[in-house]
Amino acid sequence: MNHFCSIKDIENIKSLIEDAQKLQANPWAFKNIGLQKTLLLLFYNSSLRTHLSTEIAAQRLGLSVITKNMSTAWNIELKEGAVMDQQNAEHIKDAAGVVGSYADLLAVRAFPSLKDKSIDYSEPIINAYQKYAGIPLLNLESGARHPLQALADMISIESLKKKSKPKVVLSWAPHPKVLPQSVANSFAAFNNAMDYDVHVCHPEGYALDVEFVKDAKIHHNQEEAFKDADFIYAKNWSSTEQYGTNNFNDKDWMIDEEKMALTNDGKFMHCLPVRRNVVVSDKVIDSKNSITQIQAANRIIAAQIVLKKILENG
Ligand code: CP
Repeated sequence: MNHFCSIKDIENIKSLIEDAQKLQANPWAFKNIGLQKTLLLLFYNSSLRTHLSTEIAAQRLGLSVITKNMSTAWNIELKEGAVMDQQNAEHIKDAAGVVGSYADLLAVRAFPSLKDKSIDYSEPIINAYQKYAGIPLLNLESGARHPLQALADMISIESLKKKSKPKVVLSWAPHPKVLPQSVANSFAAFNNAMDYDVHVCHPEGYALDVEFVKDAKIHHNQEEAFKDADFIYAKNWSSTEQYGTNNFNDKDWMIDEEKMALTNDGKFMHCLPVRRNVVVSDKVIDSKNSITQIQAANRIIAAQIVLKKILENG
């Protein structure tokens, strides 16, 4: 593996998950593989799980880690050929070249602006770092993707599924803020790659890009979608028809015990952080069927197997 920016960087997802499960049984087995190498994490946005799990994963491989909050760096210019006489003090070409000379591996979180879908989906920050840093790059959540989260989610489903092709439902849920489509996109794409029975449920106007959902079954009614589901994954994402907006008034979409009762004793999933009693009721997220803490714990092994594969590639 050279980079981990999207599902396209994975050669065989099933064998990657098997390797992750083996590593999970003996997480310090490769504690010297990253010695004398540095992983640099750049965060343009807040994080709890991604930051900590990636640092822990790196430590277990012997890597040195430096984490930089980019809100304390110079304002970055992205535009090719820009006349930089305004607020932006450093071009991303220069910044990427510098960090590429300081580290052996780079990982970047850069959320979308949620103003223009085509700009967000072109992932200008991630792509510029990949182009100009000249070292392996991990995507820690970008304009359209969150592949480390999705890999952790697949590891979680694989460890808990009771049938080879579980019914997995990705359901839109309300939220007071407008959120990226990244988690939902990657979750759908990874489910399709796993060949699960994939269903996506959302209000009209919130369709995800076909690149990610492919031929998943689409529902606009949660009760219908939840019937006999083995896994329910709740997530808010921005409207697509009115990109950058969010119909928070649609509180009927919150996931509660009544809806979960329609499932096949289904597990409840969410990537966290979650707005309790907005996205999901306390009773559901605190129930024995909630696996949100397992997903969060699996963020470590997801990051660790990806870092290990990149290090092995030299
Ligand atoms: N799920 C996730 O990416 O969490 P953080 O935003 O806290 O990293």
